[in-house]
Amino acid sequence: MGKFQVLDHPLIQHKLTMIRESKCGTKVFREVVNEIAMLMAYEVSRDMPLEDVEIETPLVKTVQKQLSGKKVAIVPILRAGLGMVDGMLEMIPAAKVGHIGLYRDHESLEPVEYFVKLPSDIQERQMFVVDPMLATGGSAIMAIDALKRRGATTIKFVCLVAAPEGVQALQDAHPDVDIYVAALDEKLDENGYIVPGLGDAGDRLFGTK
Ligand code: URA
Repeated sequence: MGKFQVLDHPLIQHKLTMIRESKCGTKVFREVVNEIAMLMAYEVSRDMPLEDVEIETPLVKTVQKQLSGKKVAIVPILRAGLGMVDGMLEMIPAAKVGHIGLYRDHESLEPVEYFVKLPSDIQERQMFVVDPMLATGGSAIMAIDALKRRGATTIKFVCLVAAPEGVQALQDAHPDVDIYVAALDEKLDENGYIVPGLGDAGDRLFGTK
């Protein structure tokens, strides 16, 4: 089973409380989502492997560490996932960015893939799928299905707020995927919103309704 980790660093908790407030406006919401994503990128990259490298400082030759593992790709699930990309890139600037677009079919209520654009070498990359909310898990499961079908093998899922139902569904569908959340909330309501949650993350990021 993959890792499930709540990244409850005090800065992350404080910032998450700020954006949960319904009076937090679009500008601050967007800025703080990026800040949280930056802090989460620091935590989710903790197990990146290192190798020795010989370098010369102005004083001596010395053996130091550099990253040795897979290159990274960040894959936001459209549209709300876009809000986490810049913050992740602040920490991992060499990462490539893929995009997965899903919409919910009105009749089946299932997510349907409408856009997938990924780096060509995803099988060699550490993929970070990002979406602020893990509600039922339907979109995350389908996005990860789409990546695996195209050859991705190393995938982590990063979100701000998760419902227990979504975590369970994602773990059942993709037990190899590590899941990182800033908060594990109480439940889903009858409309599929996470409670207490922060509302519709896409609308709050982009100022739509
Ligand atoms: N998507 C959101 O943006 N918010 C929720 O609470 C659930 C799904």
